[in-house]
Amino acid sequence: MGYFRDNIEKLAGYVPGFQPGDDDVVKINTNENPYPPSPKVMEAISNFDGELLRRYPEPLGDSFREAASEILGIGPGNIICTNGGDDLLTICFRAFCEKDSRVVAYPVETYSLYNVLAGIQGCKVVEVSFDVDNWIDEIVKVDAALTIICNPNAPTSTRVETEVLGNLAERLSGVLLIDEAYVDFADDNCVRLIKEHDNVIILRSMSKGYSLAGLRFGYGIAGVELIAGMMKVKDSYNVGAIAIAAATAAIKDQEYLKKNVEKVKAERSRLKAGLEKLGLEVERSQANFLLAKKTDASAIYDKLADRGIYVRFWNTNSLADKLRITIGTKEQNDKLVEALKEILS
Ligand SMILES: Cc1ncc(COP(=O)(O)O)c(C=O)c1O
Repeated sequence: MGYFRDNIEKLAGYVPGFQPGDDDVVKINTNENPYPPSPKVMEAISNFDGELLRRYPEPLGDSFREAASEILGIGPGNIICTNGGDDLLTICFRAFCEKDSRVVAYPVETYSLYNVLAGIQGCKVVEVSFDVDNWIDEIVKVDAALTIICNPNAPTSTRVETEVLGNLAERLSGVLLIDEAYVDFADDNCVRLIKEHDNVIILRSMSKGYSLAGLRFGYGIAGVELIAGMMKVKDSYNVGAIAIAAATAAIKDQEYLKKNVEKVKAERSRLKAGLEKLGLEVERSQANFLLAKKTDASAIYDKLADRGIYVRFWNTNSLADKLRITIGTKEQNDKLVEALKEILS
């Protein structure tokens, strides 16, 4: 007998995007924000009272919940703070899924961590293809304990309308988790659904729009009963005191968020046009990345990496002819387009 549970022995594990140590490279492979966080964040960290580190942090991150609830127009009791959005995913798998009886379902292609977390929990996964017209009916047929819709979806960058997900929530007897990690770059969001549907949970991340991937802060939004249940599952002190202070300062600075997001969106339009001019097919993106289609994507990926430009490539059926490209700074995007011009000529 091995030391690990069978499903852990068999698990491949999540493969994070490559993190090159070299500052000279163009790193547009993990959907980080190319611009710095709000100056208010650095101010909050500089002014942080070191004496507070002696004590445990606020167990529920109440300062953040208060600040976020005012901005979102919901109650603090509708929010759970998490150590990045990924922590909320872990909490949901632990809370709702179980071997045999409690399955997870989601449309694919999507965020590959879902499959890994299901493997750790040892629960069955039912995947439905986004490419079939009636994928919503197929998801409803599964009627899983946990249904996840990544919206905007990674890596496709597309978004399902809020009303469509409201109807889906109505038809499910289990929980509908809407992963809105990229929502700051989208035309709409699903927060209003929690007022009408007691089975909806929204995932939010501070890593993308707020430029705080290194901080590790995310949160969940749901009705008070789901929040109370998830609180039982989370680690007692799952968010650190410095992270609470920094994330609170970030969410209070909505003006900076808007400016930051607008800069990314402007570059998104410019880069999309540049890629299309080179013959790549690009989805209309609602996120801070583009999914660009071109035969020989794998070879292009290698040639870009040789030039110190890192994008993301997955060698799976429907993604083998595509590259996922994070929106970088103007300079980074120009370097990418120039390199592609050379490679494709
Ligand atoms: C679809 C999706 N959901 C959730 C996350 C989690 O983000 P984080 O844990 O950095 O908040 C990511 C990260 O890239 C993501 O792509």
